[in-house]
Amino acid sequence: MSEAPLVNITIDGKQYQAPKGANLLLTCLQLGEGTDGSYPDQNEGGEHYVPHFCYHPGLTVSGNCRMCFVKTRQMVKRGDQMVPMEMMTTSCTNVVAEGLEVFTKTPDVQKVRAGIMDLELINHPLDCPECDKAGECSLQDYAFDHGHAASKFDFEKVAAHIKPLGDKITIWGTRCIQCSRCIRVADEVSGTSELCFVNRGDRTVIDVFPGKPIDNPLAVNTVEVCPVGALKNRDFLYTARVWNLDEMPGTCGLCAKGCSTRVDSLKGKVTRVMARENPNVNDFWLCDRGRLDYKWINSPKRIDLPHTKSGTVGWQKGYELAAEGLKAAAANPGKSWAIANAAMTNEELFLFKKLVDKLGVSNVVVMSEPDVAPLDFPGFKAPADGNANRGGVAILLGVSDCAATVQQFAEACAKGDAENVFVWAGLPHGTPEDVTRALGGQAVKNIVAVDFQRSMLSELANVTLPSTTYVETAGSWINSELHLQAFRAAMRHPIEGRVGTELLQELLYVLDEAETEGEDSTRGTPQGVGTDDPLGAPITQRGWEGASTIPVFAGSGEVAVKSRKTIVGAAAVFAQMAEEVPQFGGHTHLSLIKSHGAKLV
Ligand code: SF4
Ligand code: SF4
Ligand code: FES
Repeated sequence: MSEAPLVNITIDGKQYQAPKGANLLLTCLQLGEGTDGSYPDQNEGGEHYVPHFCYHPGLTVSGNCRMCFVKTRQMVKRGDQMVPMEMMTTSCTNVVAEGLEVFTKTPDVQKVRAGIMDLELINHPLDCPECDKAGECSLQDYAFDHGHAASKFDFEKVAAHIKPLGDKITIWGTRCIQCSRCIRVADEVSGTSELCFVNRGDRTVIDVFPGKPIDNPLAVNTVEVCPVGALKNRDFLYTARVWNLDEMPGTCGLCAKGCSTRVDSLKGKVTRVMARENPNVNDFWLCDRGRLDYKWINSPKRIDLPHTKSGTVGWQKGYELAAEGLKAAAANPGKSWAIANAAMTNEELFLFKKLVDKLGVSNVVVMSEPDVAPLDFPGFKAPADGNANRGGVAILLGVSDCAATVQQFAEACAKGDAENVFVWAGLPHGTPEDVTRALGGQAVKNIVAVDFQRSMLSELANVTLPSTTYVETAGSWINSELHLQAFRAAMRHPIEGRVGTELLQELLYVLDEAETEGEDSTRGTPQGVGTDDPLGAPITQRGWEGASTIPVFAGSGEVAVKSRKTIVGAAAVFAQMAEEVPQFGGHTHLSLIKSHGAKLV
């Protein structure tokens, strides 16, 4: 909300303070029980929820649907007297003022809403059973909540066109309620203005200009704002009923903007990506690449068990083979290389650095995705960097020119100076060709890889440990504007490996164990978890302090005890990182999630 002075208002008999001049509809949506201050959808609405179609907080106010009527009472001057004046008014076109009383649920308000619903439904087909929007449609929900049980209109309905408006979008004109949200998105967010109303009266319908489809890089935002099933995203059309979807908050990792998303999945497969409100990064919008480029997550090449050149092995064997490969690297650090990537989370990079330091390997390479087309639209901008976390790479690995490190690695491979390589793959679009080509060189004898899918890399590697994609990972990234954002896993894939922070802690453990072989100790439990052996037998507490890996993970709340060792979650790794790396100090995973991230200073 703005920084205007606060004034006193009353909504449904409850007193509040709200900024003077704030939009009255948005104020009703954001105040009261059952709200968290963000723009709610019709199912999340708080106690003063006001139904509406055309209003959207990210767009200018058009006031044309008339669904948002409320009753207001205000003192006005009549002659030399102040008298109360009551009126029915559209809340989206009104603002907060001192002493304003608002009624959102009185019988006369309900009656107006029922009348508006009658009008909205005159020509609307009874399409809900076959409409993709059913289950998340404002018109359907409001018809239940505010409409009459039966239609009073007994005329033939006016039909309108059903046709593609571009490669990504189809319109069912029969379902359009002429709210104009889509037009305003095309006018104000992308600024491309492909959409308009054509015809008049009850023939009015959305269309594009002849020969000018809506194919701009932000086009599918028009579908997301459509309150009914008129505009449809062709990628999602008829793939799922929305009530079967799991909806989880996520963060897009396809470029360095890091938009907040909602990942909708069905049985562990992503079916669509929606925008999630984040005033610090993407407001209410996503680019179409972020929305539509998710098929790689559902790749049939996903792996869930370690494998070697001769086939799949169990996890224990996989870790043993990986540890052998890493020990060989530690024995010859001059000819050993560690390759990270610019989509890794900060937590993974932090542990990766611990691991390479432990190995004594100083040849660190960072793979990255190629640049993408930058976006520069009136309501949405995105950088050319196609990597989620170059900022984290710079801080935690000290690498600012990823391409130069890949070049150095390729040259070392050509000269025979790279015998042992630890590769942390997992870029959305695979390991870059120049890296796999270099790894295929004669001199490279020992490759330990981590990846979420089978690829040329896993063909070359002596052992590959399966990881997850970032959609299934908790962590944090730093975007191109130095905005630090944390996220939780948005989904579980049915064929998933292990999350990166877990894999790295396991590898640190096995290397630790190798270091202390023969000593009278067992695997330690990191401090903060207690000194008792979870399995009952007394153990020598060794922990991870001193020469070992990372020390205390106390108070994380995300501790998972596995066997005799403790593997902690991303929030706890973040807490440790915040202690050791000044740039992350003062933040916690949870505080970042709650605040939509924080700007690094
Ligand atoms: S197509 Fe959807 S968003 Fe556009 S005017 Fe019609 S109902 Fe509104
Ligand atoms: S701008 Fe970047 S982060 Fe945002 S949705 Fe598009 S690809 Fe994803
Ligand atoms: S939401 Fe107010 S008139 Fe449409």
